[in-house]
Amino acid sequence: MAIKCKRIHKQLLLLIGIFIVLNCMLNVIPQYQILQKNKILFDVPHLDSTLFNNHSTTIVTRKREPVQIWKLHPSDDRILAQVKFRPNVDFTSLPPKRILLAQGLSGWGVQNGNKAFVEHQCPVQNCHLLEHPPSSEIIDARIFKEIELNENMYREALSVVPRHPDQAWIMFGLESPEASPMYANLNDVINWTATYRYDSTIVTPYDKFKAYDNFTNISDYKPNKNFAASKTKMAAIFMSNCYASNNRLDIVKELQQFISVDFYGACGTLTCERGNEKTCFQKLKDEYKFYLSFENANCRDYITDKLFLNALRNDVVPVVMGAHPDDYSRMAPPGSYIHVEDFRSVQELANYLKFLNQNDDEYIKYFRWKQTGSFIDTKFWCRICSLLWDHEKPRMSVPYLNKWWRGKGVCIGRGRWDKEMENIDSLKSDLLFNTGIEYVNK
Ligand SMILES: *[C@@H]1O[C@H](CO)[C@@H](O)[C@H](O)[C@H]1NC(C)=O
Ligand SMILES: *[C@@H]1O[C@H](CO)[C@@H](O)[C@H](O)[C@H]1NC(C)=O
Ligand SMILES: *[C@@H]1O[C@H](CO)[C@@H](O)[C@H](O)[C@H]1NC(C)=O
Ligand SMILES: *[C@@H]1O[C@H](CO)[C@@H](O)[C@H](O)[C@H]1NC(C)=O
Repeated sequence: MAIKCKRIHKQLLLLIGIFIVLNCMLNVIPQYQILQKNKILFDVPHLDSTLFNNHSTTIVTRKREPVQIWKLHPSDDRILAQVKFRPNVDFTSLPPKRILLAQGLSGWGVQNGNKAFVEHQCPVQNCHLLEHPPSSEIIDARIFKEIELNENMYREALSVVPRHPDQAWIMFGLESPEASPMYANLNDVINWTATYRYDSTIVTPYDKFKAYDNFTNISDYKPNKNFAASKTKMAAIFMSNCYASNNRLDIVKELQQFISVDFYGACGTLTCERGNEKTCFQKLKDEYKFYLSFENANCRDYITDKLFLNALRNDVVPVVMGAHPDDYSRMAPPGSYIHVEDFRSVQELANYLKFLNQNDDEYIKYFRWKQTGSFIDTKFWCRICSLLWDHEKPRMSVPYLNKWWRGKGVCIGRGRWDKEMENIDSLKSDLLFNTGIEYVNK
């Protein structure tokens, strides 16, 4: 009942902004109390409303067909659509959208103001990053890193800057759920998610491969170089965290029974100086056939630099473990890697690696992808800015953040995905392409 009441009143507020309605709701919705205290109006007050569709039109449109940049798409992460998106607004004479990074700008490698948007040559540059909330200005978005987000922060954040209904609270996340806090009581707090998860509002993968428009089928391509020529060693892995929940260390050790794996880092026997990353990578590139891109957690979509930077960018074939095989086939370049779950056992995997080691023609097929596309800049700050300026942006929030981030089937500990998927019958409907995001004005 309370929820229904809340929704109806929100719509009324949006549509006609009757102040009396607000007063009767004051004791029900605490955030509205804050709004009233600070005398912030319910429409976006610093914008000239004649430039925008009126809200009733927007809501009707959204109910029918949310546009591509917002709506989840099962085979498209929407990154390109968002990068290209240019809201149809003459914002040059309007004040910038203000994005608050309350935990400090330095942690983001950005500066105060609009420099980030200019540097990335964003289609829309009228946005400002700031770390100290100004008392008199409207904040349009707040970004929270997943590791800092918790209930206390939420309460504190509310007390520092008022939250108006068009202010987007954004969760940014590159860590796996296993490395991030529990999000108890953060239900309907976060509006947009910006994580590597494919079902985020603003998908932020570690890297993004885009096939050329003329791409046909990987089997139509031929390797253009003998990438095996200089390589004399079998496999390598750099690992500094020895206690991963998916027991990757056990897999490495088992592999070592069958093939030679040079084990660098804190839990291995070899060292390649950290400060000397270039030399380590060069060594990989020149000497090794395979790199074990073993993530520290088996979680959906959790594919990091271990694949993109360590392996693919160093011309060494990645043997991957971590995310579901479907996630790799969506995110990695076609035919570029070997998933441990393509084999029933570690021994079978080892046999296949030995086979490739003996057959250069087969081995170098793993480099055909290089002619099929390239890695692109996903322009994170640009996308945030453009989306904030979308005058048709739907209001939405994640009803159960914790469930979305670490619900059943997101991470599987030391299990195999093929086994876990059998066990979790409802997984498909429960998780895949179900953001958990609820449109407020539906
Ligand atoms: C707002 O939208 C409604 C519904 O489409 C329309 O009837 C009304 O004329 C619009 N008002 C303005 C000021 O454009
Ligand atoms: C496909 O497109 C890429 C990038 O535009 C280009 O470099 C390549 O030569 C094209 N390949 C063919 C076969 O046309
Ligand atoms: C690509 O070509 C191979 C071999 O001709 C074929 O088996 C496969 O189905 C093709 N894939 C697609 C997506 O067309
Ligand atoms: C964010 O979520 C809250 C809570 O559901 C909602 O009141 C607000 O309108 C949402 N804002 C946006 C920009 O979606």
